[in-house]
Amino acid sequence: VSAKLYGSRDQEAWQKEVIFASGQNLARHSMETPANEMTPTRFAKIIEKNLKSASSKTEVYIRPKSWIEDQAMGSFLSVAKGSDKPPVFLEIHYTGSPDTSEQPLVFVGKGITFDSGGISIKASANMDLMRADMGGAESICSAIVSAAKLDLPINIIGLALLCENMPSRKANKPEDVGRARNGKTIQVNNTDAEGRLILADALCYAHTYNPKVIIDAATLTGAMDVALGSGATGVFTNSSWLWKKLFQASIETGDHVWRMPLFEHYTRQVIDCQSGGACTAAAFLKEFVTHPMWAHLDIAGVMTNKDEVPYLQKGMTRRPTRTLIQFLNGSHRDGVSLRLVLNS
Ligand code: BES
Ligand code: ZN
Ligand code: MG
Repeated sequence: VSAKLYGSRDQEAWQKEVIFASGQNLARHSMETPANEMTPTRFAKIIEKNLKSASSKTEVYIRPKSWIEDQAMGSFLSVAKGSDKPPVFLEIHYTGSPDTSEQPLVFVGKGITFDSGGISIKASANMDLMRADMGGAESICSAIVSAAKLDLPINIIGLALLCENMPSRKANKPEDVGRARNGKTIQVNNTDAEGRLILADALCYAHTYNPKVIIDAATLTGAMDVALGSGATGVFTNSSWLWKKLFQASIETGDHVWRMPLFEHYTRQVIDCQSGGACTAAAFLKEFVTHPMWAHLDIAGVMTNKDEVPYLQKGMTRRPTRTLIQFLNGSHRDGVSLRLVLNS
């Protein structure tokens, strides 16, 4: 790009866009990589390297199994125990606000490095796609790396739950009962519904940071793909304000989001879920949230691209990383309204 052809403002915009794109590419790389290579530990190390080189205002905690046990995250551990690969609770902090004690935004991501379904094993056709079942974790971590590169004046914490969902003699079985961090017991009807189990513990933990907002992203349900296909990420949120911000960000990037319901109707269906699977999964997560500004992003439908999104290559899409970066990019300007909403 020549300075003669473009003014300095265009140069700036170009540089910013390069950072957005590099965030999306980082996510794509990890999603495509085979699961025997992209283990929980490897994933955590890659994010650590990228975050550390993005900014010095960062901290990375690669929490091992013993820490997860101390935290009483029984729900997460019940999924991880089926695999020989140790789980990792990756926690990344970027403290970009001049006020280091300012309330953070907390992002949570599903990081199943391979989802075989466990004892409720999946059909073999297309099972290889489940190497990308860490797309939520990757997307939120990449967005935070990009926020650090952009030197945004915000505080943000990312929590990535990393493990494999495998069948073995130690794995969860249908009807097994586990206990989440908040003491709630969960009966596992189908071990392939592992995403909501690991997110439950992380959502409880997210509240301990007194966050401004909690946003989770997960390749959670095949039903989300049935509902919206690859047209948009489904957003389930208890806050219309947060919905508007995410929607606005998605209009700017073109990586769209669309609002889905969190009705009590679906909570009653959690046990015996038949139709509306994306909504019943979201209703399950709601049981672990007390925060008034929470959004759950079901990204199962936007995980891959055949050729329907012309500006993306075929394969894993790394969506909606750019929309999350755009949301963060705007969020500091909304600091005042964030406080207003919280106090009202
Ligand atoms: N990771 C899958 C969801 C998924 C499916 C993502 C296809 C991307 C493409 C998730 O863990 C899963 O297996 N969900 C089950 C839930 C069911 C057992 C209640 C599903 O959607 O079938
Ligand atoms: Zn899964
Ligand atoms: Mg599954």
